[in-house]
Amino acid sequence: MKHLLSLEALPAADIAEILTLAKTLKATRGRHAEHPLKNQCWGLIFSKSSTRTRVSFEVGIRELGGDALFLSAHDIQLGRGEPIKDTARVMGRMLHGAIIRTFAQQDVEDFAHYGNIPTINALTDAEHPCQILADLFTIQEKLGTYQGKTVTFIGDGACNVPISWIWAASKLDFQLRIAAPKPFQPAPELIARAGGDIVVTDDIESAVVGSDVLYSDVWVSMGMEKETEYRLAQLAGYQINSAFLKKAAPGALAMHCLPAYRGKEITDEVMESHADTIFTQAENRLHVQKAILCWLVK
Ligand code: CP
Ligand code: NVA
Repeated sequence: MKHLLSLEALPAADIAEILTLAKTLKATRGRHAEHPLKNQCWGLIFSKSSTRTRVSFEVGIRELGGDALFLSAHDIQLGRGEPIKDTARVMGRMLHGAIIRTFAQQDVEDFAHYGNIPTINALTDAEHPCQILADLFTIQEKLGTYQGKTVTFIGDGACNVPISWIWAASKLDFQLRIAAPKPFQPAPELIARAGGDIVVTDDIESAVVGSDVLYSDVWVSMGMEKETEYRLAQLAGYQINSAFLKKAAPGALAMHCLPAYRGKEITDEVMESHADTIFTQAENRLHVQKAILCWLVK
């Protein structure tokens, strides 16, 4: 049985297959010849807020012929302490697949193990694999390919989004630069384990030079709200703005996984002048989620 629990565990050939499928699904939206989720009901079990991931999966499942059940962790017994392995063993007998957004990576791994149904990581503290697959797809669309390109992540370099970027760079042909203040850099052991062409620095000025993509994410990830004041102080300046974009390669993309906090990790000016890229990136979540679902059930 296939799962999508992390980019760390997803081979490059599967990434390529998902991106190719997404291209077809985007081109044929509204007139798909096959509905591989027909007669299936998938559950979305979310312990954290979501706009894009939730809507793209709910719409995507329906467009593939299936039905979706949104289950906020606050409303089910999981939120009152029922163990994930018991939740998984119950849901695995009723649902055809599960999409989970939570804190601990171990919880999605345990759900997949005990539930015995295809399981997708819709964001944990450790990874956000679906996001980076959609980002790679967007870069392909906008720049023709991600191969040989330089993607520079600016901000909290130790959270889920840059970590999934690290695993993408470990198996695909592009350079990843992470510009982050020292307390927000990924662990050196993680970089060593990943391999690949990855540069980590706190020198944002040099990191942006010649980059094909400047990428950012929130400074305060979900679950980190208690550290807000410290993070805003430490991460100040680790922002996509027009001065840094001028130092990037001609035609460089500004990307953001969203939600965005204007004036913090990205300026309003860059959000608006690069809105086509950023909202195409958001739209592509739908096409890529559908590709992930098709790849899982085929
Ligand atoms: N980028 C992303 O995952 O957005 P949501 O948190 O709105 O799902
Ligand atoms: N790093 C962010 C991603 C949001 C999509 C978070 O975990 O909140």
